[in-house]
Amino acid sequence: MSIKIETIFKNNEKWIAEKLSNDPHYFEKLSKGQQPEFLYIGCSDSRVTAEELMGLEPGQVFVHRNIANLVVSTDNNINAVVQYAVEYLKVKHIIVCGHYECGGVKAAMHPSDMGQLNSWLQTLRDVYRLHKHELDKIEDERQRFDRLVELNVIEQCINIIKIDHVQRSWYKTGFPMIHGWVFDVRTGKLIDLKLNMAHEFREVRKIYDLKPGRFS
Ligand code: CO
Repeated sequence: MSIKIETIFKNNEKWIAEKLSNDPHYFEKLSKGQQPEFLYIGCSDSRVTAEELMGLEPGQVFVHRNIANLVVSTDNNINAVVQYAVEYLKVKHIIVCGHYECGGVKAAMHPSDMGQLNSWLQTLRDVYRLHKHELDKIEDERQRFDRLVELNVIEQCINIIKIDHVQRSWYKTGFPMIHGWVFDVRTGKLIDLKLNMAHEFREVRKIYDLKPGRFS
């Protein structure tokens, strides 16, 4: 059954009442500003919420979502989000969260003409190409699909460390820490891929280290 728009506004009133019954000053506090420690970059998929799956509240996570949780260097939107999160909010952690059964990743595994989506999904196809040898060895289609979801998260975390704002902050403060996660939509479990981003950075440093501060 489809949800009526009026239902959403009724839900909102219930939610306000619930929040105020727990804390009469809830919205007064919320309006004072935000100091989130996390920047969450996830998929737009309606099944993969940001705050809810982490058990966090409004004010605790700065969120960016797009199809297949991509960090594309020419995407003005994500660049602005990362700059704001790092320079102004001074988040301690940047999380890239992928998810199994991701429609974007699946589409990239089966190339077809998808119009506007072609250029967006090309980034995913590039991830496939980079890891073709590993992926093509996996015979089971679901396992191959799952692995591409994980490899995509790793590649997007590497894309985060290529960003100048992130490097500047890293050199100055040692933060933000970068984490790669996968949400298993089949079980609800949040999986930490336990990436060692310092190691990843050392591996690609020769190519991507912008040596921030040298010219300032
Ligand atoms: Co997805």
